[in-house]
Amino acid sequence: METGAGLRVLFDGAAVLGAPKRRGALPRVRSPRVRPVMRCGRRFGPYRLIRKIAQGGFGRVLEAVDTRDDLPCALKAPLRCDQTSIDLFLREYELVSRLRHRHVMPIARVEVILGLPVIAYPLGRESLDERITRPMPAELAVDYVRQLFSGLAHIHARGLIHCDIKPENLIVFPNELLRITDFGLARDGHIGSLNTNSGTPEYMAPEHADGRVSTRSDVFSAGLVACLLLTRQFPERPFTWPLPGMERFAARAPAMTEVLRRATALDPQERYIHGGALARAFSCARRLDAAA
Ligand SMILES: Nc1ncnc2c1ncn2[C@@H]1O[C@H](COP(=O)(O)OP(=O)(O)OP(=O)(O)O)[C@@H](O)[C@H]1O
Ligand SMILES: [Mg+2]
Repeated sequence: METGAGLRVLFDGAAVLGAPKRRGALPRVRSPRVRPVMRCGRRFGPYRLIRKIAQGGFGRVLEAVDTRDDLPCALKAPLRCDQTSIDLFLREYELVSRLRHRHVMPIARVEVILGLPVIAYPLGRESLDERITRPMPAELAVDYVRQLFSGLAHIHARGLIHCDIKPENLIVFPNELLRITDFGLARDGHIGSLNTNSGTPEYMAPEHADGRVSTRSDVFSAGLVACLLLTRQFPERPFTWPLPGMERFAARAPAMTEVLRRATALDPQERYIHGGALARAFSCARRLDAAA
């Protein structure tokens, strides 16, 4: 759809959330000859750019306001403009558009502005990485874990492997809503290679570091995030249970502790098979601990 002023809307929210009807149904976006400039304080197509939130290896995320509806958003754009970078960037859109869950980041809009594809996400308050630096009631930490496991269960049920579960990729919204984001490294479990060691070394399962990902390697990373939330310390490998800093939690909540121990087993066969099994085990354990 051409709307003039160099803006081409690929999909808007409603259509995106209903997608995909067909895999690979993404229109091809040709790399622009010159990279359009995105400057804070200026407009970029319909977006008013406010500030840079983050810049990673492949993309940058800016806080922006969509002037069409005056809604704040996190606007993600590829860092480089060559065809491979553009294709990889839109692959993230294609994967996210298969997901629809309370604890997975939805896409508000995807469009091409002056030749550059951008994805607008609802603007969260902060990442869990930032949130974790401040005091957090134990019940809230447990509830973030529940939300993370529940989102992961959905991702796996849709056949995807996230490959980069870590606090920076978990965004906190008002009312303590947690959403999983950043599908830049995600894999389709049905098609494509599951051989990759891209990810974040600290959170990687041993077999992921050796180049092989599966739903079990996501379970490991999510288990580590849970341990970090509950102990406020990053556990050292090989883990000794209860983890340092988790003694009081382990005494109060032995069943939940056992779930986390299994989730972070170094042997993938000892772990839960996928996010669904992990989420179910965690919610059973939570009930057991509450009843004890
Ligand atoms: N919807 C959002 N609301 C608020 N902040 C966000 C949102 N999405 C992303 N961020 C922030 O931007 C950072 C980078 O986002 P994301 O991980 O999606 O981009 P990336 O290009 O893959 O970056 P990286 O390579 O650093 O992972 C996140 O860690 C988070 O701090
Ligand atoms: Mg990220």
